[in-house]
Amino acid sequence: MRRPDRWRLYEQAVQHPEAEVAFFERAWRLRATDGGSPTPASLLCEDFCGTAEVARAWMLLGEDRRAVAIDHDPRVLKRAWRAWCAHFRRLRDAGLEPGDSLDRQADLHLLCADVMQAKIPPVHIIAALNFSILTFHQRQSLRAYLRHARRRLLPDGLLVMDLFGGPGAMMPGTVWRRVEPSDGSIEPFDYGWEQRTFDAATGRIDCRIHFRFDDGTTMRSAFRYDWRLWSPADMVEMCLAGGFRRAQIHSDLVGGQRTGRFRRTRSMPNAREFVVYIVAQR
Ligand SMILES: C[S@@+](CC[C@H](N)C(=O)[O-])C[C@H]1O[C@@H](n2cnc3c(N)ncnc32)[C@H](O)[C@@H]1O
Repeated sequence: MRRPDRWRLYEQAVQHPEAEVAFFERAWRLRATDGGSPTPASLLCEDFCGTAEVARAWMLLGEDRRAVAIDHDPRVLKRAWRAWCAHFRRLRDAGLEPGDSLDRQADLHLLCADVMQAKIPPVHIIAALNFSILTFHQRQSLRAYLRHARRRLLPDGLLVMDLFGGPGAMMPGTVWRRVEPSDGSIEPFDYGWEQRTFDAATGRIDCRIHFRFDDGTTMRSAFRYDWRLWSPADMVEMCLAGGFRRAQIHSDLVGGQRTGRFRRTRSMPNAREFVVYIVAQR
C-alpha cells in the first residue's frame, strides 16, 4: 500500500467531522430555545478548513446544505477538492443519474484566502476548529478576527470554536496513540502529539504532530503549530467585547473525565486537560 500523505494521516488521527456537525446542529437548536429564530441552519463557513472535512460532512447532512471552506494553503484545498469530487465519482459508480445528488458538487465552495480577507455572503454558522483560533497571539488580532467573523454571520448566527487547556496542556512531552482506520483504507500507524515548549510569560505553545509507521520509519513534525493558549474565560470575554450578544462554554467533563458529550456550562472541574467548544451568538 502506498504511504498516505500527511493530511490523510491527520484526518484519520484527529478529525471527527460527523461529531462536529452533530454538535453544530445541537448548538443551533439550543440557540432557538434561547429566543433565536427557529429557521434551520443550512449555510456553513469553515474557516481555517484544512482538508475541509467538516464542510464536506455538513454538505452531506441534507440537500439544502451549502458550505464555503476557507484556507490560505492552496495544496490542502486542492486535496479537499479532489476528495469531494471522489465522493461524486463513487455516487456515479453506484449508478446515480445526473440531476440527482450529483448536481450538488458545486454547492461546496473552496476559497483560497486569508480568513481576514475573505468576503463571503453571510452564513448561519462559522466554524473555526481544531484550535485554529489559537493562531491569534495578540488580543488585537483575535478581536479583529472575532469582529470579522461576526460581520459574516446572519442575525442570530453562531461562531463555533474549540480550545484546549488545563495544566497538562502546558507540560512538555509527547503522547503516542495507535490509529487503526476503521475502513482499512490505510495501514494502522502511530500518532504522536508533542507539546514541545510552553512560554508561561506569553502563553505561547509550540506543538507538533508526528506519525510513526510499522516499518520503523517516522514522519516527524508533519504539522507544527505556534499557538497562544487562550483560556475559555478570555475567549468568552473577547467574543462579548467583539459584539457577540452571547458566548457560552460547552464542556464534556464529568468529574474530571472527558465523556465526548458536550454541555453548556459556567463552571468546570480543574481537570489536567480539557477541550471545550465556545459558541458565540451574533
Ligand atoms: C490547525 S489546522 C485546522 C484544520 C481544520 N480546521 C481541522 O479541523 O482539522 C489550521 C489550518 O488553518 C490554515 N490557516 C492558518 N492561518 C490561516 C489564515 N490566516 N487564513 C486562512 N487559513 C489559515 C492552515 O493552512 C491550516 O490548514
